Amino acid sequence: MDLTEADSQNNELVPHKGFLLIKGTHDPDDVDQISNLEIRDSDVFVVTYPKSGTIWMQQILLLLEAKGDVTAINKFSNYSNADLVPWIEVIGTREAFITAPSPRFRVTHLLHQFMPLALRQKKGKVIYIARNPKDVLVSYFYFHKLATMLETPKDFDDFFEKFMRGDVFGGRWFDHIKTWYSHKDDMNILFITYEEMIQNLQSAVERISLFLGKELTDEQLASVVEHSTFKNMRKIPQANYEQVSDDLLNHHVGTFMRKGTIGDWKNHFTVAQNERFDEVFQKEMKDFPLSFIWDIR
Ligand code: A3P
Repeated sequence: MDLTEADSQNNELVPHKGFLLIKGTHDPDDVDQISNLEIRDSDVFVVTYPKSGTIWMQQILLLLEAKGDVTAINKFSNYSNADLVPWIEVIGTREAFITAPSPRFRVTHLLHQFMPLALRQKKGKVIYIARNPKDVLVSYFYFHKLATMLETPKDFDDFFEKFMRGDVFGGRWFDHIKTWYSHKDDMNILFITYEEMIQNLQSAVERISLFLGKELTDEQLASVVEHSTFKNMRKIPQANYEQVSDDLLNHHVGTFMRKGTIGDWKNHFTVAQNERFDEVFQKEMKDFPLSFIWDIR
């Protein structure tokens, strides 16, 4: 099932080359310029389908760069992690990327086709985080209530249908992960899951550090882990998007750092929704070579 341009029933979303952009947040011409960006070997792009742990990886990257020294990050206390590790697709961020000093860390929810072509010559590095799409759906439902740039869902059932159709920013979860994975041999890419990070953050941080070629002592790594746990990130205003303006996030409706758990879908899906999701998942992912550690049932 492909979402055609005419299918989007969402006023906030603008169809662009088979993908949906957010009105006022993204500019289609700007997005088209991303593919021409020059890439340095030290550049790192974190790629996620929305609600898969982007903010978490922003925190880990910043801490790894600072060798676990939180005071170095606190110097930028007027900035949130989203300012320090911005989205490459958001209006106005491309120009800053061109002149930014190395290393340049960026996040994106875009599909592979929009990304800098130089990544395909193995310049720079890419970290793709995948999360159980059932938990992504639930997290995204709450995020739609919080985010002013996205349409507030009528109810969970309605949002469930939109997500299954791909009528959300990010498109269909299945297409996102499959297209990125199909290009894995063209790029320096690390695939990691949210669930791996939940189960063993220490080992996930070590994998990320190794992939980025960082050399941290055991104490420095321990500090990165300590300051990127859900409990601690919730207390750090820079790291939890508390500082993001009310114009973008309705802070009185909820918090960005919502639950940070595995399996919240079980509190939201009906039996019928779960069966339908499993059926689609099996069909879409049957040839996908990676096995996931989450419990999809
Ligand atoms: P929930 O809504 O399920 O709590 P993104 O940054 O891609 O939008 O992802 C946000 C999701 O990641 C939210 O999920 C948020 O709570 C979760 N998250 C952020 N930091 C986390 C951490 N340190 N540990 C666990 N989950 C985290």
